[in-house]
Amino acid sequence: MKMSSSGGLSFLRLLLFICAAASTTTLVGATDHIVGANRGWNPGINYTLWANNQTFYVGDLISFRYQKNQYNAFEVNETDYDNCTLYGAVGNWSSGKDFILLDKAKRYYFICPNGCFNGMKVSVLVHPLPSPPTAAASSGHSSSNKTAASGQAVSRPGFFIIIGALLVSLSSIWV
Ligand SMILES: *[C@@H]1O[C@H](CO)[C@@H](O)[C@H](O)[C@H]1NC(C)=O
Ligand SMILES: *[C@@H]1O[C@H](CO)[C@@H](O)[C@H](O)[C@H]1NC(C)=O
Ligand SMILES: *[C@@H]1O[C@H](CO)[C@@H](O)[C@H](O)[C@H]1NC(C)=O
Ligand SMILES: *[C@@H]1O[C@H](CO)[C@@H](O)[C@H](O)[C@H]1NC(C)=O
Ligand SMILES: *[C@@H]1O[C@H](CO)[C@@H](O)[C@H](O)[C@H]1NC(C)=O
Ligand SMILES: *[C@@H]1O[C@H](CO)[C@@H](O)[C@H](O)[C@H]1NC(C)=O
Repeated sequence: MKMSSSGGLSFLRLLLFICAAASTTTLVGATDHIVGANRGWNPGINYTLWANNQTFYVGDLISFRYQKNQYNAFEVNETDYDNCTLYGAVGNWSSGKDFILLDKAKRYYFICPNGCFNGMKVSVLVHPLPSPPTAAASSGHSSSNKTAASGQAVSRPGFFIIIGALLVSLSSIWV
């Protein structure tokens, strides 16, 4: 009895994960960039090397994984990033598994205040979306209006990514 009920629960959890994965990856093609990959968000890692090894696009997620209550993540500006300060902080996350939507084409800066001097800082340059598949398929070389078209395409993937992120958090709360 006990075994079958826990089996049912983990099946449900698996389903939730599949839904989440489908809505973030398959449907949208957005990437979740896990900071530090399997080493996570911890001291003593050169995150510049990590960031240089991937390409970030508008609509992608960056996610920080770390020991909750020990570290956290702040989005700051360039001065703060250089100096390990928080004067220009615009956001902070502390769940231990934080998903942050990169919804603008710009350079983002993140630090962990109590690990910053030990390397817990990362800066990522987010590129505009490449021309949308539909536009690319229908018209050969529409170069002048590319930016406007990709700007419009942004809000939709963002919606699915948020749903996906919610499902991921929901499924981790579930068990
Ligand atoms: C991290 O790696 C980059 C690229 O090789 C290098 O420029 C930078 O000095 C390194 N940072 C640290 C703190 O070692
Ligand atoms: C860069 O990314 C590739 C593919 O994810 C990985 O195999 C490789 O080890 C990474 N290199 C560095 C320096 O992180
Ligand atoms: C922060 O660092 C910059 C150099 O990156 C320096 O010019 C500036 O004075 C520093 N600001 C503070 C408040 O320490
Ligand atoms: C970062 O924010 C601080 C506080 O608002 C400000 O003094 C500083 O000039 C900002 N730096 C940049 C590069 O915008
Ligand atoms: C963290 O963010 C919350 C809003 O989400 C804000 O109220 C709080 O002041 C921030 N904490 C710090 C230390 O900046
Ligand atoms: C590009 O967009 C503008 C309006 O934003 C429009 O007036 C113009 O005709 C468009 N050009 C092409 C080649 O579609």
